[in-house]
Formats: sequence, structure tokens, C-alpha cells
Amino acid sequence: MNLFGIIFFILLLSSLRPSTSSEICSVSCGIQSIRFPFRLDDQLDRCGYPRFNLSCKNQSQTVLSLPFSGDFDVVNIDYMFQNIWINDPDNCVPKRLLQGLNLSLTPFSLLYPQSFTFFKCPTDASMELPEAKYIPCLSGGNFSVVAIPVGRVDLSTLCSEMETVLVPVSWTSWLSPGNGIMLTWNEPNCMLCERRAGNCMFKSDSALDVGCSDGFSNGLSRRTKYGIMFGVGIPVLFVLGLVIYLRRKADNYDHHHNRMEALSDSIALRLDAVAKGLDEKTIEAYPVTLLGESRRLPRLNHNTCSICLDEYQAKEKLRTIPDCKHYFHADCIDEWLKLNAACPLCRNTP
Ligand SMILES: *[C@@H]1O[C@H](CO)[C@@H](O)[C@H](O)[C@H]1NC(C)=O
Ligand SMILES: *[C@@H]1O[C@H](CO)[C@@H](O)[C@H](O)[C@H]1NC(C)=O
Ligand SMILES: *[C@@H]1O[C@H](CO)[C@@H](O)[C@H](O)[C@H]1NC(C)=O
Ligand SMILES: *[C@@H]1O[C@H](CO)[C@@H](O)[C@H](O)[C@H]1NC(C)=O
Repeated sequence: MNLFGIIFFILLLSSLRPSTSSEICSVSCGIQSIRFPFRLDDQLDRCGYPRFNLSCKNQSQTVLSLPFSGDFDVVNIDYMFQNIWINDPDNCVPKRLLQGLNLSLTPFSLLYPQSFTFFKCPTDASMELPEAKYIPCLSGGNFSVVAIPVGRVDLSTLCSEMETVLVPVSWTSWLSPGNGIMLTWNEPNCMLCERRAGNCMFKSDSALDVGCSDGFSNGLSRRTKYGIMFGVGIPVLFVLGLVIYLRRKADNYDHHHNRMEALSDSIALRLDAVAKGLDEKTIEAYPVTLLGESRRLPRLNHNTCSICLDEYQAKEKLRTIPDCKHYFHADCIDEWLKLNAACPLCRNTP
């Protein structure tokens, strides 16, 4: 073994601190990583903030149980922007919305909810109205269920009115009914900590004050420590692995950094008011990118549209929001911007 390797190794080990509770508290269910403010099943109470309980079904599906509206599958948690996507286990979110999505006693709220009226129409009635959204999972052999933004069109002569409910607009990308809905939370606010790649956690053993440890500026991050532990015992492999790891990390950091720069001013901003939509001319004026075979985006490395959660495919048309440089499928973001004049990710108002 070479001496340099050993010294390097010892130096690195000495910079590792004992496991903090945030490491014990970081778990996963299937591909979903679960960490503060969420806690899973029988983890310690202090691993999560009150009312952020999740459970893991069949060791693969994360489940969120809402006290008044039942169980939802968790599709994805975005810790940085404090959003959680949930879906009906039967892929029929509209049904769950009609049953009443009651978020009382939960820390969550809908982003940009919009009122829609649901109608049950005879199948042969002309459903050519551009704004009427057909809901396949509620429709039957001889009737169609459609939803229309409140007050736009009166269908009551043709159809029977079912109910008017608040709909999270991300769901109204309507492109595939399995998308689920996006909820957001304000408390605890770990956005700045996540941004530094720190560990958001309780400051003490009893109070609800939340702090941040191990950011970029303070020792090694959690991920670096894991990277290092894999190499323990085989210093040569270890050093090699570390070089590769650090390279990766640098790439990641660049990506991260770009995104963060664009958002730096708006990240803490939460627009609670429902913004008005944009007109088509304005939307059309936003830049469009046609993806090449490499599917590489000019700026951000994201490969999934956060509205419909589908991966970008070659030859697809993407649209960028100029102020924040976020990309989305043109179809998805156009629908969204007609209803909300704000970026669904960073809530920047163009
Ligand atoms: C969440 O889990 C904690 C710890 O097990 C429990 O005390 C609390 O009642 C749970 N909360 C809900 C809403 O289920
Ligand atoms: C658990 O998952 C396996 C495969 O992923 C599946 O075959 C099985 O039916 C699932 N069980 C339940 C109870 O969902
Ligand atoms: C949610 O359900 C609870 C219990 O049924 C009820 O008291 C509360 O008013 C409901 N909230 C909304 C917004 O409907
Ligand atoms: C058509 O709908 C009516 C009620 O709207 C129902 O009674 C009837 O059974 C349906 N027919 C078929 C073939 O589903």
C-alpha cells in the first residue's frame, strides 16, 4: 500500500464526524428517499415534523394518509421546492377530488387551486368545447364526464351538473390521468437548508425549531460521507472511487448551481394568491426548444417535465419560461400558463 494513500485515508476519516440523527433518519421506500420533515412508519418521532407521517406499502410504494380523504400514493417529493406529488392508487384523481379533498389537519395545501365544475353528459352530446376536459376514469358506456373551469361555458342544458370542486392546476395538464396532484407545504421551511445540501433537522430534542447542519460550507455533506464509507478498507480503490465521485459531484454542483442562481431571489417567495393566466400571444412568444436525439437541454439537465412527470423524448417541443429558464413540455406549460401566470416550479411571475 502506498503511504500517500494511507495518510489521505486517515485525514479523511478524521474529518468524518459520528453519525448524526439525520443519517439515521434518512431512509427510502422503493426509489423514494424519505427524510426530514417526513418520517416513515416506525422511525423515531423526532425524525419528522408533526403530521408528516408516511408509510411504505409492500416495501416499494410510499403512502400518504390524509385524515379526512384517505390514502394516496406518493409519486415524488421535491424537498428543495417543498412540493409533494400524490396520486390516487386507482389512478383516478378526479374521483378523489369529487369525494372532497379535505386537507384539514395536514400541513399541506394545493398550489394554485382552480374551481372546476364537473358535468355528466350524454355521450353523443357535442363535446367539442375546447375547455371541456373529458375524464375517462369517471365516464361510462353511455355517458361522459367532463370538467370545465367555473363560469366559462354553461353546459346545463345539455348535461347534468355534478359538483364544483377545487382542482390543483397541475392535474389539469390533463394529458394523462395518472399524473396525480401537487401539494405544497410552508412549515417547516427547509428550502434554504436543502439549497445548501444541508441536513434539515430539529435544533433540540423537544421544541419544533428547525435548523440546518452540514451544508456545503460546513464539513462534508451527507452524500460525501456515504461515498467515503463505501471505500473503507481498500485505500487504493477508495482513492480511485473518490476521484470519480468528486468529479460527479462537481458536475452535479454546476447543474445545481445554475438552477439556484436563476432562482436565488424567488426561492423563498410563496405566492398564495391565485395568479391570473396569460394570453396565448404572450405564451407563444416564449422560446421553444425542439429536442434533438441526444435529448440534451441547453441549460438545465432535467430530463422530466415537472407538470406531467413524463420524461422528455427526442423531437419533443419544450417551452422555456424566460425569467427562470425552467423547461417544460410545450403542451403542458401552455395549459398551465393559460390558468396561472407563474412558473410551476419556482413561482416566478414572468
Ligand atoms: C405520526 O406518527 C407519530 C409517531 O408514531 C404518532 O405519534 C402520530 O400520532 C402520527 N400522526 C398521525 C397524524 O398519524
Ligand atoms: C408487492 O409487490 C409485488 C411485486 O412488486 C407484487 O407482485 C405484489 O402483488 C405486491 N403485493 C401487494 C400486497 O401489493
Ligand atoms: C374537513 O373535514 C372535517 C371533518 O369532517 C370538517 O370539520 C372540515 O370542515 C372539513 N374541511 C373542509 C375545508 O371541508
Ligand atoms: C345508460 O344510462 C342509464 C342511466 O343514465 C342506465 O340506466 C342504463 O343502464 C345505461 N345503459 C347502459 C347500456 O349502460
